[in-house]
Formats: sequence, C-alpha cells, structure tokens
Amino acid sequence: MPSQAQTEVVPSNPVQYARQGNIGVITVDYPPVNAIGHGVRSGLVAALEAGLADDGAGVLLIVCAGRSFMAGADIREFGKPSAPPTLPEVVARLDTATKPVIAAIHGTALGGGLEVALACHVRVALKSARLGLPEVKLGLLPGAGGTQRLPRLVGPAKALDMILSGDPVSAGEALSLGLVDAVEDGGSPMDAGLRAAERLLADGSLPQPVSARTDRIAGTDPALFTARRAELARGQPHLFSPHRIVDAVEAAVTLPFAEGAARERDLFLACLDSPQRAGLIHAFFAEREVAKVPGLPADTPTRDIRKVGVVGAGTMGGGIAMCFANAGIPVVLVDSAPEGLERGIAAIRRTYDATARKGRLTAAQVEERMALIHPTLSYGELADADLVVEAAFESMEIKQTIFRTLDEICKPGAILATNTSTLDVDAIAAATGRPQDVLGMHFFSPANVMRLLEVVRGAKTSAPVLATAMALARRIGKVGVAVGVCHGFVGNRILHQRGRESMALVEEGASPEQVDRVLTEFGFPLGHFSMTDLAGIDVGWRIREERRKAGDPEAQAPDWLDILAERGRYGQKTSAGVYRYDSGSRTPIPDPEVTAVIEEDRRRRGIAPRPVSNEEIRERCLYAMVNEAAKILEEGIAARPVDIDAIWLHGYGFPSWRGGLLFWANQEGLGRIAEAVQRYHRGIGGPQWHPSALLLQCAAAGRPIGC
Ligand code: 3HC
Repeated sequence: MPSQAQTEVVPSNPVQYARQGNIGVITVDYPPVNAIGHGVRSGLVAALEAGLADDGAGVLLIVCAGRSFMAGADIREFGKPSAPPTLPEVVARLDTATKPVIAAIHGTALGGGLEVALACHVRVALKSARLGLPEVKLGLLPGAGGTQRLPRLVGPAKALDMILSGDPVSAGEALSLGLVDAVEDGGSPMDAGLRAAERLLADGSLPQPVSARTDRIAGTDPALFTARRAELARGQPHLFSPHRIVDAVEAAVTLPFAEGAARERDLFLACLDSPQRAGLIHAFFAEREVAKVPGLPADTPTRDIRKVGVVGAGTMGGGIAMCFANAGIPVVLVDSAPEGLERGIAAIRRTYDATARKGRLTAAQVEERMALIHPTLSYGELADADLVVEAAFESMEIKQTIFRTLDEICKPGAILATNTSTLDVDAIAAATGRPQDVLGMHFFSPANVMRLLEVVRGAKTSAPVLATAMALARRIGKVGVAVGVCHGFVGNRILHQRGRESMALVEEGASPEQVDRVLTEFGFPLGHFSMTDLAGIDVGWRIREERRKAGDPEAQAPDWLDILAERGRYGQKTSAGVYRYDSGSRTPIPDPEVTAVIEEDRRRRGIAPRPVSNEEIRERCLYAMVNEAAKILEEGIAARPVDIDAIWLHGYGFPSWRGGLLFWANQEGLGRIAEAVQRYHRGIGGPQWHPSALLLQCAAAGRPIGC
C-alpha cells in the first residue's frame, strides 16, 4: 500500500458536536473523503454521547464537511492492529440511541459510511448523492452491519445485487428502493438534514431502528441463495469474498439480528485475513499512486486542453476520438482517405448505438457525443487544437511525415502525441522542431473501453507536457502510467515474453488449450491463444510476412500460427483460428485441424513432443514476465513496481485479486522465481532467460522487488 508511506495530517478532532436550536449536529470533517479512521470512530462515539446527554437536543443529525459523506472505513488501516472503538461498535451505539438520529448524505456514502447511515433512524440525501457498499471490490464484505441492515430496507435480492456488484445507486434509485427516506434537489446537506430534523421534532416519535425491521426479509425463498451461489461458482470461481457475502445476507434472513451481525463479523474477519484482500487493496492504491510520477512535482504547470485532434480514423483512432468525446472534449478527426473517414465515423456511431441499446446512453447523449466529433479530410483544421493524437498505420516513415505536417500546422504550445505501440517516440519527435512537446499516448484496444494509457515520455518531453498528459488521462477516465521509451514500452514488452513462452511450450508438446487453461486457472480472463484469436492472428502474421519479404535477417520462418493465418484462420472474426467457434459464439472449441498443423510443424522442425506439466507452463509464462519486468525497472523504463502492476491490471486483465504482476511475484517468492529463471537460463538459454540483476539481488537479500 504505497500511500501508507506518506505523512498524514490528522486534524486534531475530525468530529465536532454543536447545537442548532434543539437539533444536535455532529459534523465529520476529515478530508479528502471523510474515511472512517480511528479518529473519526472515536469522535463519532464521543459526539453521539454528547448529543444524547444534551437535554437541549431533541434530534441528532450527522452531516459531513467537504465533497462527500463518509466514503467508508479508512482502507489504510486494514491489516494493521485496530484500536477501539471498532466500526461495528460505533454502529451498535447508533442503533441503541434513545433520540432519533438522521444522516444527511451528499457526494458518496460508501462502505462503512453507508453502514453508519443505515444505523441511523432516518436518511436524507441530496439528489446528486450516490450510495453503495463497494467492499467486494477490496476483497471484503460490509463488516459493520451492512449485510444485515440493507436487506431489511431493500429486500435480500436487491441487497445481494448491490453488495455483490459493489456498484453504487443514485439517490433517486435509493429513494425508490427504500434505502433513503427523502431526496432533496439542491441546497446543502446541512439544510436538507435540518429540514428532516424539524419534521422529526414535530412528529415527536422515535422511529424504529432498521435492525428491528423484518417486513422486507420475512418469507425469503431460500432458492435465492442457492441460485446466487451457483452463479458465483460459474462466473467468479476464484473470488473469496462474494461467496461469504451470500452467506452473510442469508444469515440476515435466517437468524435474529444480533446473531446475523455476529456471523457477518466472522465472515468479514475471514475476508480481512485473505490474501485476496491484500491484493485488491494494493490494486486500489496502485491505481491512484501511478498518477504521482516520481520527479514530477504535483504543482508542475499543465496546459489547457479544450480541443483535441486525432489523426487516423481506423479502429484505434475512432476509439481514441470517442474517449475525448465521452469526456465532453471536442475532437477533430482527420483522415486522408474519404472512405476511411466515412467508415470510421460509421463505426463510431455503431458503437454508440450499441451502447444506447444496452441502456447505457440515451439517444440524446449519442447525438451530443457524435456532434463533438468533427470529421475532416483537412489537416488544416488541426491548427487550433491543443493536443493532437496520431493513430495512423504503424510505420516510421508515415508517422514522421505526419509529425512534420503537424509541426507546420499546429499552433505553438500544442502537444503532439503518437499512439505508436512499437516505434521509437524519440525518432518521431525528431521529425519536428518541438520535441519537448512530443510524447507517446499509447491507448489499448478497444480504446474507448480499456482503462490503461501508457504515457510515453521521450528523451526531450518537457515536464509540463508530461503533467498535462497525465492529468488528461484522469479527465478521460483512464489510468495513465508514465513509462520510458523502449520497444513495446512496458505492457507489450512483458506480454511478448508470455507469448514467446506460450508458443515454445506448444512446440515442445503442450496443447494450446493446456497453456490457456493454466493461465485462466491463474485468473486471467483469457488464455494466451484465446487472446490471440480475439486480437486476430492476421495482424502479427502480416507484420512477420512483411519482414520476411523484406529479407529481415531477424525474421523467423513461418510458425504454426502463420500457417493457420495462411489458411484464412484469422481467429474469432473468421470463426476459426487457434480454436474454432460456432457461429455467433465466442466459446473456443479445440480443433483437430489445428492439432494436425502443430504436429506437422513439430515434425518439420525435428521436435519430438514431450509431456509438459502445468507447473512448467505456469513457471515459464509467468516467471518470464517477472524477469522482464525486473529488467524494465533496472533500465528505468518504469519508475516503480506499482507502475508495472497498474499496467498489467488495467491493460491486460491481470487478476486484480493477485494485486498486480510484481505484487504477486513478491507473494510467490522472489527466491523461488530467481531459482527457476536461472534453471531455465541454463536449460533453455537465450537472452530472454538471462536473469535480471535486480531480481537476483532482491532474491538474495530476501527483500521485495523495488524496495
Ligand atoms: N480510506 C482511505 N483513503 C481513501 C478512501 C478510504 N476509504 N477512499 C479514498 N481514499 C483516498 C484515496 O486513496 C485518495 O488518496 P490520494 O489523494 O492520497 O491518492 C483520496 O482519498 C481521494 O480518492 P480518489 O482519488 O479516489 O478520489 P475520487 O473523488 O476519484 O473518488 C471515492 C472518491 C469515490 C470515495 C473513491 O476514492 C473510492 O471509491 N474510495 C473507496 C471507497 C470504498 O471502497 N469504501 C469502502 C471501504 S471498506 C469498508 O468500509 C469496510 C466496512 O464495511 C467495515
């Protein structure tokens, strides 16, 4: 948890009690998000006792300062010894309060924050507020009564939906579900809370606490839990906490409140102890930590980005244009070919329409976003763009020509970015007279969906340009990670290791489905060969063919994948690749034709196949990645292990419950990995298995990588 290292400024008393007329107001003020750390917990209990003892206060109101209601327990405290009062103790005290307590919610009421609100007698929310129990995303379950109280308000089925997804609901939805009692449009949370308090004072009664309610849980069909368990076994077999969530909500409907709460506590502690909790919390902080680039001060000036240009209306360019339009930023989309531009715009509209059909955009929003994308054949229209992202064909010659043109056309101070995935950003920058304004912005396909953005800092990229690109990444909802220039940058360079080993293992005797099974059992959503089929075998094959035709001495003879491509088996798009696919289905089916091609390829190369163990596949695919990642750190291409973790989490489906590639490597044991890397270096050889000096040093010193 990188954030732990930072010095924390704790306000002397983050919770204050004061009276307004006959309403006792408890204000939580613990920036940035009022996380419920020890100071907030003890402050809440003290303020509550003060309010209960205050004869002048007929009703108590909990309200938060700043941008949000409490956003949950303080995540930085997990895994450390916790001092009393615990959050369940705070919540239990609220539950037995002898005066009505109101929670006035604005911003986000999440996790423990919502659990505090659930233990209040009344909840009012501003219309813009969002409420949820996201603990599952951290490998946890709501551990302060959330699994017991939420079903009592919204019913067990909806409670399971909310707690298993971890996604918040809007205040409007919360009102219709019965989660909040009133929603106010505008005004401050204090005003909304005071109005609710006046209503309660006029009424004069003490509302029933949520814990005493049974109307929404009585008569729950046990089949609900059987069905949810079956869904989880199918969809999330690896995950620990979702199964415990079902157990806890079941306890809410089968046990009296106090026993259900005790069961919830046991299940929460089991989750807290699980390695998945540690991994997911590392992933949470990793996403935020990468925004703080070492050596780039937080107050580095940034440039205003009000209008963006995208060069190239292909799949990548179109996806990139959508990223900006989705964030409300106008885009000029340039392509030199009229048909290309037309196709690109049509593809963008198709994607938006499909999203609208799924109910995630309204027709009006589709039109607004389309209106933000201005297609043109004229580079001249880029003259006033603040940033241009080039997404043209992957050829140095073409890219340098485009950058020379951009340099002539674009206004001084405009940032010129390339979306190259393989070419040298410095060589592209050298084609311009402003290399300080050039950098790489490497989006991942589909660009409008994938959250990763590698921000490639060239040798001459200026600090404000890098800072602007990092800030822009956040503005368009991406996880921007700053990396240096090398072939494949960080993500693809590591992926290449896994790909090479996967191919070699098949040549030696494994089947593609065996390799894929080991990777999906590890937790990747797709194995290497299923991913190849999804991306399209033809892409790599065409590049390799070009190199062979050009007489590149490093080009290798066609392998079995190339033979599949030669036969028109391009992957999912042709319903046949490494696997075959029934029409309209994405389920890979092993194909004897492919087995025959692989066997023929082995014969041609004189390889006698041998049985390959799952353990060898796991080691060779994953340890080769770790070894390469360590070399990337040694070379300074990535500044910190956390950067590599975030890249693999957000760009390549690394299982988030394992924390990230290097977080996992430290858990796996660097000694064990270093021993295996050296063994494969002796046995297989090749520069790829040359052990990283950093890996060997850390293993020998018994310290985690990067520390
Ligand atoms: N504990 C500690 N720090 C937290 C925190 C938390 N619960 N939530 C956010 N922060 C920190 C972030 O690390 C970040 O720190 P930094 O500035 O040093 O990087 C800072 O607050 C601001 O966070 P964001 O950059 O994420 O700000 P956003 O405005 O984009 O998002 C948010 C705000 C929606 C609240 C988002 O931070 C979030 O989703 N937080 C986590 C909420 C959560 O998971 N709550 C449940 C906790 S577990 C729990 O409550 C257990 C209970 O059931 C017992």
